[in-house]
Amino acid sequence: MAGVTGSPESQPPLLVVKNLTTCYGMPANPNNEAEAGGGVSGGMEVDGDGLSSSKRVKGNETNNSDGVRASGERSNGIKAVDNVSFTLHAGEIMSIVGESGSGKTALCRSIMRLFPTAQVQLTGKVILNGKDLLSMDNSQLRQVWGLEMSIVFQDPMTSLNPVMRIGNQVSEGMRKRQGMSKKHSRELAISLLRSVGIPDAEARYRQYPIQLSGGLRQRVAIAIAISCNPSLLILDEPTTGLDATIQAHIIDLIANLVTKRSMAAIFVTHDIGIAASISSSMAVMYAGSIVEYGATEDVIRHPTMRYTSALLNTAPKLDAIPHTRLKTIPGQPPNLAALGNGCPFEPRCDAPIDRCSYERPQLTDCDTQPATHLCACWNPRMPANVPENIEESSQ
Ligand SMILES: Nc1ncnc2c1ncn2[C@@H]1O[C@H](COP(=O)(O)OP(=O)(O)OP(=O)(O)O)[C@@H](O)[C@H]1O
Ligand code: SF4
Ligand SMILES: [Mg+2]
Repeated sequence: MAGVTGSPESQPPLLVVKNLTTCYGMPANPNNEAEAGGGVSGGMEVDGDGLSSSKRVKGNETNNSDGVRASGERSNGIKAVDNVSFTLHAGEIMSIVGESGSGKTALCRSIMRLFPTAQVQLTGKVILNGKDLLSMDNSQLRQVWGLEMSIVFQDPMTSLNPVMRIGNQVSEGMRKRQGMSKKHSRELAISLLRSVGIPDAEARYRQYPIQLSGGLRQRVAIAIAISCNPSLLILDEPTTGLDATIQAHIIDLIANLVTKRSMAAIFVTHDIGIAASISSSMAVMYAGSIVEYGATEDVIRHPTMRYTSALLNTAPKLDAIPHTRLKTIPGQPPNLAALGNGCPFEPRCDAPIDRCSYERPQLTDCDTQPATHLCACWNPRMPANVPENIEESSQ
């Protein structure tokens, strides 16, 4: 699955995710906890690596060498991420959209291998800059966190350390991971704070998170995430809860950073308008799987999987008659612990066929679309049924 946004095929992808599956659940043998170790992030103590300090997780120190269980021992759990594959090139922003509980955060955490519990099983491949992250041990992972990939979480008030000055949180990674002097890292941190649009950066450097507004805190979180120049930036709903003006600033900021620093970014959002404005490729998630994937414009103009078109139809329209009710998708997202063999969207679908009830469709070329536009549907929509004005709606 490559080149959805026209990236030159000669340029190898920065990130390859292949058949990634994340299973949350109790071990088949609960007495085996110590052997299971810290799951994917056991023993992880992110320290000055561009991940914010309060996100540090001290896992079980008795974890095994690679921290990842690949056996079938925990197959009785739920698959929060189910057989996900995609590629990402430098300079590309991929958006991930989907309803609450569809597995967006689980996918981000799986790519980062950020799990605090002993009850997570990861299989598949995550290759970043040619390195297989799932086969790394914890010390190797620490060389990747912050330096090669970073994550920004939705709520900066919980991701920033409330008792540590802003400046120290931004410069910590440069000092501890890149060996920079205190003076040099301070200068760079202040210039980083300026570059993410924080006014009066010198004064802010000495302040605590509580002294900043939500928008400024989110900018600080972004500054921390990019402080060690990672090639991959993952943003898990970085603008949710911010007002429209701040959202627009943060989106511009991210787009500029990706271009200037030749990074790649994964941008998780509930807002199709924001996804349309920032991303060149889009993945739609449902029940832990990507059900549609392609160039953002293709996906939005020609949604093919029935869930995607239903989701796009829920986006507010600028030309809608005032006070009309917003459309919703009937029914509820499925219980991941009780999925059948068929398409998980079948109970809510407006055009299921027999096969949908007993066989889960896999992501594959949609007959009517470019070969880079993939969908998982037995009865895909034809191109004529295009939701209108999605690209103009942003809230
Ligand atoms: N630690 C956990 N243990 C067991 N199940 C979990 C755990 N964390 C998440 N889940 C389940 O995994 C599924 C995916 O959750 P996830 O947080 O990735 O959804 P999401 O798409 O990010 O939702 P939202 O839009 O609300 O953030 C959900 O069914 C959730 O209940
Ligand atoms: S596979 Fe079937 S049930 Fe699922 S979205 Fe497509 S038509 Fe609907
Ligand atoms: Mg989430």
